[in-house]
Amino acid sequence: MNRYAHVVGWGMAVPEKVLTNDDLARMVDTTDEWIVSRTGIRERRIAGPKETTASLAIEAATRALEVADISPDEIDMIIVATSSPEHIFPSTASLVQDALGASRAGAFDLSAACSGFIYALGMATNSIKCGSMNTALVIGSETLSRLLNWSDRGTCILFGDGAGAFVLRGSDVTGGVMSLVMRSDGSGGDLLTVPAGGSKMPASYETVRDNLHTIQMDGRAVYRFATRVMIQSTREAVACAGLQLSDIDAIVPHQANRRIIEAAARGLELPEDKFVINVERYGNTSTASIPIALCEAVEKGRVKPNDHLVFVGFGAGLTWGASVVHWDVTPPPPLDTWGRLRRRTLTGVAKVRSGLRRVGRQLEGVVYGKNAPEGEEPPHVKKK
Ligand code: UT7
Repeated sequence: MNRYAHVVGWGMAVPEKVLTNDDLARMVDTTDEWIVSRTGIRERRIAGPKETTASLAIEAATRALEVADISPDEIDMIIVATSSPEHIFPSTASLVQDALGASRAGAFDLSAACSGFIYALGMATNSIKCGSMNTALVIGSETLSRLLNWSDRGTCILFGDGAGAFVLRGSDVTGGVMSLVMRSDGSGGDLLTVPAGGSKMPASYETVRDNLHTIQMDGRAVYRFATRVMIQSTREAVACAGLQLSDIDAIVPHQANRRIIEAAARGLELPEDKFVINVERYGNTSTASIPIALCEAVEKGRVKPNDHLVFVGFGAGLTWGASVVHWDVTPPPPLDTWGRLRRRTLTGVAKVRSGLRRVGRQLEGVVYGKNAPEGEEPPHVKKK
C-alpha cells in the first residue's frame, strides 16, 4: 500500500516588535520610498531580548500541534530548518523537542538557507512515504536580525524574524505532498554568506571588527538567480505532480522581494493574484517565510480545502526547491476548554520532565562519576 504525507497542522509566530522603513531611515542612509519600490517591504518583525530562534519555533510548533490536535509524544521527528540556529550545537530542534516534551522524537537542524523549509518538507515527506516514520514536525525559524550588519543598507532593510511550522502525517489516502524538487549550485556560495563563525573562520577580534559574522550579499546576482529558478522549479514541480499550471490554485513563494515574485508571475504567465504575498509586513524571514505566508492565507480563506498549491523558494548555497501540495485538510474546530487544559498540562509536564532529567543526570554524575574508581564503566555497561 502506498503511503502519502499530508499536512495536518500549521502554525506561525512572529515577534511583537515592528521595525518600519521610517525607523530604518533613521539608522542608515535609506528611505521608505526606496525600500518599497525596490522590495515591496514596508515593515518587519524584530525579536526582543528574550525571543530566540527556538522560542519562536516552539510557539509556532505549539500552534501547529493544536491545529493537528495531536500530542507531542506522537511526533517521530522534528526538523528545524534555520540559518540562525541558537548554537552550532546542540541543534535548535533538540531544544524544541525538550520544550514540547516530544519524548519519542528524533531531532535535527537542516541548513539550506531560505530553501530550508522546502528541503525539510522533502525530508519529512520521503521518510513518511518509505514508512520509517509517521508524524513529523517541520519548522522554519529565524532570528536573522542577529546576523545583520545594521550599518549595511544593502542587507539590513531586507530581513525579519519569525517562525512557521507544519505537522505532516502519513496516510493511505492519496494526496498531500505530491512532488518535490530540491536543487543546488555551490559555485554561487559566495553570493550570499555569513563568512565567519564556522570552522573555516572561527570568531576572533578581527572577524568581529570586520563584521564578518553578518550577512554579506551580492544582491543583483541573487536577484538574477532567484527569478530564473523560481520559474524553472515551479514548472518542474507541477509537471512531476502530473498537473498543469492551470490546475494550481495558489503559489506560496519565498518572500524575499515583491519584484522577484512579480517577475516569476510574468515568467510563468500567471496573474499576480495567484501568488500569496505578505513580504510587505514581514520582510524576508528566510526559512519561515513560506509557512508564515501559508498560515495567513489559510486564516484569510485564500487557501481552501482541496486546493493545489505550489511552495517555491531559493536561497544561499545556492539552493532552490519547489513542491506541489494537495491541501486536502479541513482544519478541526478550535479546542474547547478541556482541550486547551490538556495541552497546557502537557507543556507543564514537559518542563517538569526536562527538569527531572537534568537533576537525574547530575545525580548520576555524583554517584557514578566522581566517586567511581578510575576506569570503571557506568553500571548499565555490561562487564567484559
Ligand atoms: O533569500 C534570498 C535573499 N536575498 C535576496 O532575495 C536578494 C535579491 N536581491 C534584491 O532583492 C535586490 O538586489 C536588492 C533589493 C537587494 C537591491 O535592489 P537593486 O535594485 O538590485 O539595487 P542595487 O543593489 O543595484 O543598488 C542600486 C543603488 C546603489 O547605488 P548606486 O551604486 O547606484 O549609487 C545602492 O548603493 O541603490 C543603492 N542602495 C540603496 N539606496 C537606498 C542599496 N541599498 C539601498 C537602500 N536605500 N537600502
